Amino acid sequence: METITEGKITIEIPKGNIRKKDPVFYNPEMKLNRDISILAVKIFKDMAKRKITVADALSSSGIRTLRIAKECANIEKVMINDMNPTAIALAKKTAKDNDINNAEFSIEDANVFLSKNKNHLDYIDIDPFGSPIYFLDSCARAASGKSLIGVTATDTAPLSGTYPKTCIRRYGAVPLREDIKHEIGLRILIASIVRAFSRHNKSFVPLITYSKIHYFRIMGISTSSTSLAGKSAETVGYAHYCKNCGNRMLSKDIEDKTCAICNKDLTIAGPLWTGPINSPLFINKMIKENDFDDKKLTEFLELLKKESHITQPFYDLHQICKKNHLEIPKREKLFEELKNQGYKAEKTHHEPTGFKSDVEYEKLLEIIKKRLKK
Ligand SMILES: C[S@@+](CC[C@H](N)C(=O)[O-])C[C@H]1O[C@@H](n2cnc3c(N)ncnc32)[C@H](O)[C@@H]1O
Ligand SMILES: [Zn+2]
Repeated sequence: METITEGKITIEIPKGNIRKKDPVFYNPEMKLNRDISILAVKIFKDMAKRKITVADALSSSGIRTLRIAKECANIEKVMINDMNPTAIALAKKTAKDNDINNAEFSIEDANVFLSKNKNHLDYIDIDPFGSPIYFLDSCARAASGKSLIGVTATDTAPLSGTYPKTCIRRYGAVPLREDIKHEIGLRILIASIVRAFSRHNKSFVPLITYSKIHYFRIMGISTSSTSLAGKSAETVGYAHYCKNCGNRMLSKDIEDKTCAICNKDLTIAGPLWTGPINSPLFINKMIKENDFDDKKLTEFLELLKKESHITQPFYDLHQICKKNHLEIPKREKLFEELKNQGYKAEKTHHEPTGFKSDVEYEKLLEIIKKRLKK
């Protein structure tokens, strides 16, 4: 074991490379994910204007919630649960070593733990190995009248279409193995959360979501308003995609369509979330709250904020040009042209060769073709 510090917590963790079968799982690479949770909790707590109860249903070492207890004001209590007794023993020791006395511990299956806390928890974090789908119903059950929900998924391969049958079986949704596969996977996951919450007459709206190589992360607000639950459920729809030319659109309806550009049949992916996946307002508040000395985090939040103003799925410049046998233009020049014509254009965190724009696909192809002739 070795002693390390993350945020304001000092903790003893297994030494060497991380493995799933370590007695307690601690992944230093998820620090950014945890930092983002802490900023989101700070903003949510200010919005709620009351003391909040925080729960990590699959806590492992408890690092996320122990940091919340230490780094956020006005926390009623943190509830730390994992079915691994060694993890909970470490979490208890860490709480003691760091003078935290508003933590409760339990060793239960996450579904049992959450179901026992019906309508009670103000922030719930679900961070399993693999898919969070097995825990979403009990998460919805446990969410208080207005709550913050954080969900991590590491089964990015099914969600992104590498294993479509697994995605259909697990999420009841068809993925898309094309340039926008990560955003489609993220939207399928959001829709799964929305559908689980709407089964419990609760709404869910995403506030900050992102895809990384090994995981997807979604944080959003849930309420117990039935009318808002109806609204969020209605935002679930489909993506229609042309495998021939790359044309794409989000739509509430599932009817077969043909491509307006090349007349080929469009492929349907989903059900998925068709609304905005990031809130510029919420992310802006997080940026203002961010006092972590971490350049990577600051840059990441800035990038998310910029792209959050554009709601339609991103474009991958290289893939688009490949599909349409076009030479790839310089991104800066293309952005200049798009902006000159009154469109928005921003880099996206999803792919280094991707960008977000509110330009329609047909117009984008026209601009790329014109540019190449110059
Ligand atoms: C990825 S780790 C959690 C990491 C932690 N949230 C963090 O930020 O460091 C997943 C944890 O889920 C626990 N786990 C897996 N299945 C569970 C279940 N059904 N109920 C409760 N805990 C479970 C494992 O023991 C493991 O500690
Ligand atoms: Zn087409």
